[in-house]
Amino acid sequence: MLQTYSKSKVLRTEIRLIRQLFPYFPISYLSAMKIQIINGPNLNLLGKRETSIYGSQSFEEFFTTLKQRFSEVELHYYQSNIEGEIINKIHETGFDFTGIVLNAGAYTHTSVAIHDAIGGIKAPVIEVHISNVYNREEFRHKSLITSKCIGLLTGFGLEGYAMAISYLLKRTA
Ligand code: DQA
Repeated sequence: MLQTYSKSKVLRTEIRLIRQLFPYFPISYLSAMKIQIINGPNLNLLGKRETSIYGSQSFEEFFTTLKQRFSEVELHYYQSNIEGEIINKIHETGFDFTGIVLNAGAYTHTSVAIHDAIGGIKAPVIEVHISNVYNREEFRHKSLITSKCIGLLTGFGLEGYAMAISYLLKRTA
């Protein structure tokens, strides 16, 4: 049985190599690093919704490329339009995942409950927005969750998710 590793950079390179050679080898045997991506309301429509703001790629398509780019990590993706379900996922993953990348969509600007959920867990959370919320309507300038997150990435398109994952990996290395 292969030992489970989590941190060293060298090991991360080795895990990548094994994954390149044996793409169907289960990542959970090789790496203890687990990152959860959570997308909130309306982000299921990425690729179809206001493409001039959010681009024309669906998140599922993008997620396939993310898994290739970060093949040394167990990446999980969850999307919900329902506030309570987003909170449940934060609770579920917030104690044993390496980190959470959260785009809470419009709940960013309204949800005290998501703010409290982030405050109640151990895993670091990075807030991501595809668009630059500060370039847009004033009601998007206020986030109720930033104060509970370790950082915020806004306006880098889908690449913001990759930047957040890179940072979480660096932070745990
Ligand atoms: C968003 C910005 C929010 O203001 C908006 O409600 C979204 C998407 C973004 O990714 O740019 O749904 O979070």
